[in-house]
Amino acid sequence: MRSHWRRGAALAAALGAALAVGGLALAAGAEPPLRAMRWAPRDADPARAFATQPAECLKPPPTDPAAALSVEIGRAAFRAPVLLGGQAARAGLSCEACHRGGRTNPDFLFPGASGAPGTADVTLSLFSSHRGDGAFNPRPIPDLSGPRMALKVAPADLPAFIHGLITQEFDGPEPPPAVLAGLAAYVRALDPAACPAPGRTPLTVAFLMADARRALAAARGALDQGDRPTARLMIASARARLFLIDERFAALPAEQARLRTADAGLAALQAKVSSGAPDAAAALDRWLAESRPLEARLAARAPQSLFDPKRLAAASNRRLPARPS
Ligand code: HEC
Repeated sequence: MRSHWRRGAALAAALGAALAVGGLALAAGAEPPLRAMRWAPRDADPARAFATQPAECLKPPPTDPAAALSVEIGRAAFRAPVLLGGQAARAGLSCEACHRGGRTNPDFLFPGASGAPGTADVTLSLFSSHRGDGAFNPRPIPDLSGPRMALKVAPADLPAFIHGLITQEFDGPEPPPAVLAGLAAYVRALDPAACPAPGRTPLTVAFLMADARRALAAARGALDQGDRPTARLMIASARARLFLIDERFAALPAEQARLRTADAGLAALQAKVSSGAPDAAAALDRWLAESRPLEARLAARAPQSLFDPKRLAAASNRRLPARPS
C-alpha cells in the first residue's frame, strides 16, 4: 500500500536535515520557534495562524456519563500526535494540526502532503488503493463540524474511516477500541449549530491547560473502567498540550523548568498506569490540583512569552523559508 503521507514525512525529514545543516551557517534562532510553523506557509499571518485558532463547535455534553466520557476521550485523542504513530507523530502532527478545533486549517502546508495551503493528501490509499498509481491528490481540509451536507463520510461509517486513517494512511498503531469509538463520537458531536459567536479563539495558557486537564479527566474516566491503554493515550494528549505551552516559553527558563517538572510528573503517571499501580488515580488527582498554581504562574509570565502576539510576530519573522523551491 502506498501512502503519500509516508512520502511527505520523508520529505519532512529531508527538510529537517537541510534546516540543521543550514543552521550552522546562520544566526542562532533561525529554527522556527513554534513547531507548527514547519507546516505553515512562510508568509502566514502569525496572528491568525499561531495566536488564534478556529473556535470549536462542540455540542453540549450528552447527559449519559458514559457517552460524555466517550466524547472527551475522542476529543483528547484528536489532539494527541502519538495516536497517528510513525513519521506524523514524530513531526508532532495530530488530527488537530489539520482540523484545528475540529475544523479546518487554511494555513496548513506540509511539503509532500499539501498542494495549495489548506490542503492535504490523506485519503488516496484509503479510497483508491486499487489505483496505486502514486497520483498526488491533495484535497481541502474539511471543517468536521459540517454542515452535514458538505461532509462525505456518513456518521455510521466514521469508525471504519478513522480506523483506516490512523492505521493505513498514517501508519499508526491499532488504537484502543474506546479511543476509536471516542473519535467517532467526538466528530459526531461537532455541529455548526454549536459554533460560538466569535469565529476564532485566542491561544492562551488557560486554553491549553484547560485542554490538558480535560484530557486528564478523560484519563481518570478510562482508568476507572480499567482501560489502561486509553488512559495512557489521554495522558499523552495532556503532555502534547504542555509541549505547546513549553515551546512558547523558550526564553523563560524558570517557567520552562516548571513545565518540564510537570511533564515529568505526567511521564511518571503514564508509567504508573502501565504497571497498574493502585495509586495512579490519586497521583492523577494530585497533578490536576498542582496544575492550578502552575497555570497561574505561567499566565502571569505569558506577556513575556510567545503567547504575546507582538513577540510571536517578531519571532515568526526570523524564520527560515518554509521550503526551498
Ligand atoms: C494532514 C492533515 C490531516 C490530518 C492529520 C487528519 N486529517 Fe482528516 N482530513 C484531511 C483532509 C484533507 C480530508 C479530506 C479528504 C477528502 O476530501 O478526500 C480529511 C477528511 C476527514 C474526514 C471526513 C470528512 C467528511 O467529508 O466527511 C474525517 C471524519 C476526518 N478527516 C477525521 C480525521 C481524524 C479523526 C484525524 C486524526 C485521526 C484526521 N482527520 C487527521 C486532512 C487531515
